[in-house]
Amino acid sequence: MLLGGVYSPVGMAAGTITNEAQVPSYTLPDPLICQDGTRITNAQMWREQRRPELLHLFENEEYGKTLLGRPEKMRFVLREEKQDARGGKATRLRVGVLFEGREDGRQMELLVYLPNQVKGPVPVFLGFNFDGNYSTTDDPDLPLPKHYAMGLYANRLIKNIPTEVGRGIHKSMWPYDLALAHGYGVVTAGYGEVEPDANGRWKEGPRGLGPEPGAKDWGCIGAWAWAYSRALDYLETNPRVDAKRVALIGFSRLGKTAMWAGAQDERFALLVSNNSGAGGVALHKRIFGETVTNLTGNLGRWFCPDFRQYATNEAALPIDQHELVALIAPRPLLIVSGTEDLWSDPKGEFLGGLGANPVYRLLGTDGLAQKEWPAPGQLVDSRIGYFMHAGKHDVTLEDWQAMVTYADKYLKR
Ligand code: GCU
Repeated sequence: MLLGGVYSPVGMAAGTITNEAQVPSYTLPDPLICQDGTRITNAQMWREQRRPELLHLFENEEYGKTLLGRPEKMRFVLREEKQDARGGKATRLRVGVLFEGREDGRQMELLVYLPNQVKGPVPVFLGFNFDGNYSTTDDPDLPLPKHYAMGLYANRLIKNIPTEVGRGIHKSMWPYDLALAHGYGVVTAGYGEVEPDANGRWKEGPRGLGPEPGAKDWGCIGAWAWAYSRALDYLETNPRVDAKRVALIGFSRLGKTAMWAGAQDERFALLVSNNSGAGGVALHKRIFGETVTNLTGNLGRWFCPDFRQYATNEAALPIDQHELVALIAPRPLLIVSGTEDLWSDPKGEFLGGLGANPVYRLLGTDGLAQKEWPAPGQLVDSRIGYFMHAGKHDVTLEDWQAMVTYADKYLKR
């Protein structure tokens, strides 16, 4: 279904508020006040008391607890190394991350491009894609994925399995040459290979390797976020990559996933949330665009089952998404929105960033330095950054230009 842009499987539900004047009033929890009323006044208290408390609340109430660590048997296999990719500018790797250590077990294949012009370890952008690696580029020799894919707008799948029609179909979202020219590597994998985004298939992914999840345990987002950390485990082994300079990026549901991965795994040096919307950086208590009711209906599998209790009851949530942003602090986070992407509530995404300021400031950074919601096309490059493209729910070249400029500020040496 089309939703003011690329794609939405649920569409704009009846009764969705997209008019600012109709937003009911709401109150946000103070990220610096603990549940027992203690006020956090210094960095140590944040780290030792409030941060773990918030992480626990997000586990319990929203995303569920991650029930698996790094599997002992996991191993990485280099399936290809092509040194003259992209007209000689890049080295292309295909790396199998075998979660169970077996070729016929659960796994994901990373597609890695590294710039040839840079000597020494490079910073990288890491982000999953919707329809398989072959959909991100028209390189003709990438194998056709055999895993589940989402079937983003205009792609044609057979029972959710990619076909040749989809080769390069989303390459506009992955302008590899731009990132490579600026000295960044880019790493991606099809999120559906980690775990199919479909009801009743959780056992096929990493969740199938742990105990059966209960009402407060991980959903799909938790599983995909876990795989982001496993991708980073691999990057730590590649001497051409500087694993301390990995920018974790994610669009839409994968933006929600990137935020949750970044909150749990502090090895990620920088985050980019691209149109992550509800369940990402947009506030839940601000009723605009997609709501908890929408998220926990058809898409309930993404979260822990207990998240459902907040449908039409957002006021009862003990947390909100500005506190997820706070869990990234003091690391840099760029929030990217789209003017027409009302389902994702672009202003609510900005406010999600702004609400984390007390924590970013307590930790000695400038936080989100601009109080007014910026006009499209303006990059705010403070520690919580913001950029909004004019247009729909999408990842644009303009977004990538902003991402590279922003990353240059925080990751370049
Ligand atoms: C739907 C869903 C959003 C999600 C988006 C996507 O629109 O309601 O929460 O971000 O799909 O991932 O494309």
